[in-house]
Amino acid sequence: MKFFKTNARLDQLQPSSILAFDAAISEIPDIIKLTLGEPDFNTPEHVKAAGKASITNNESHYTDSSGKLVLRVAAADFLHNKYHATYNPTNQIIVTVGATGAIYSTITALTNPNDEVIIPIPIFPLYIPITLLNGAKPVFVDTTNDGFKLTPSRLQATLLAHPQAKMLILNYPTNPTGVTYTREELTALVEPLRNKPIVVLSDEIYSELSYDQNHVSLGEILPEQTILVTGLSKSHAMTGWRIGFAAGPADLIQKIAMISQFTVTSATTNAQDAAIEALTSGADDGLIMQAEYVKRRDYLIKRLTQMGIAVIKPTGAFYIFMQIPTQFGTDSFAFGHRLAIEAHLGLVPGGAFPAGEGYMRLSYAASMTNLINAMDRLERFMQAHV
Ligand SMILES: Cc1ncc(COP(=O)(O)O)c(C=O)c1O
Repeated sequence: MKFFKTNARLDQLQPSSILAFDAAISEIPDIIKLTLGEPDFNTPEHVKAAGKASITNNESHYTDSSGKLVLRVAAADFLHNKYHATYNPTNQIIVTVGATGAIYSTITALTNPNDEVIIPIPIFPLYIPITLLNGAKPVFVDTTNDGFKLTPSRLQATLLAHPQAKMLILNYPTNPTGVTYTREELTALVEPLRNKPIVVLSDEIYSELSYDQNHVSLGEILPEQTILVTGLSKSHAMTGWRIGFAAGPADLIQKIAMISQFTVTSATTNAQDAAIEALTSGADDGLIMQAEYVKRRDYLIKRLTQMGIAVIKPTGAFYIFMQIPTQFGTDSFAFGHRLAIEAHLGLVPGGAFPAGEGYMRLSYAASMTNLINAMDRLERFMQAHV
């Protein structure tokens, strides 16, 4: 179709460089890949059983496009009990196809062409193509020199320079850096936003994987201006079931629900039934995995520090964003390929994330055996190139 013109906004976008890099190194024999952004655990048995029962019971029909009410009730209870965020399940929460569905519908429903969207970086890249597809404009704030956190003064300065900004995107615990915010930090951070016509899309998908401190939700701190995005992919090792949520003020959720309805009709019915089980009987399933991730994190931080590699200790999610040792320069893709070819170790180049050049993302959603072997390989590689 030589003369056929596709959506011009797509011309600004590139396919995911994380997936491309992962595919390129996957052929290397015996490679250990710490590249994956999904739990290595299986979905808990009782949750799988609920999904199977749903199929057996012929739950094979569309649901309400906002999701089964009983699931929205379970999600509201979960958010209330865990994070003191209070939502009315009838009009303040919708079920989406993964957190991705919530992010897509939120940005699409709440922005107009040329609206500015403030995005602290490095961050999970998905928000950027969705912003661009809507004709809105990302305004990046580099947090590298602030310990990868957006500070109130940087936010204030950005708001002054961009008074028309419509949305702020926050993701914490943060992919790819693993940092998160304390209650005090969040309270100070939202101060410049209060009572301004600006909405925060707060992607808290890793909330159950917070270490050393309890997760504090913007759904508690700034409910009237927050769309809380979450889901079961990380907390319950359910990436493939594709269940997420968007929660917030009823008038905004009504618009977000329209986009979700027009794009996917409703989330898969059997996955919704499994999700009800996950959020009720399995409300604390994530804590068992969390304990395992903490052990892995502590082990990795110890080994990396012994090797003299600079890292900020993550307090959530399952990533470490480590600086490339100076003798290897700062080109993360070049370093990533070299590490894969010479040491048979796969890490995601930081350059796959905005402002991430000079770093590598290491995912510890991998078995302890693989992590030990990975650190041994990295150590040998470093010793071979002093
Ligand atoms: C910060 C963040 N948000 C959202 C997602 C996507 O979640 P889901 O699989 O539920 O769509 C991911 C996946 O890696 C993520 O890291």
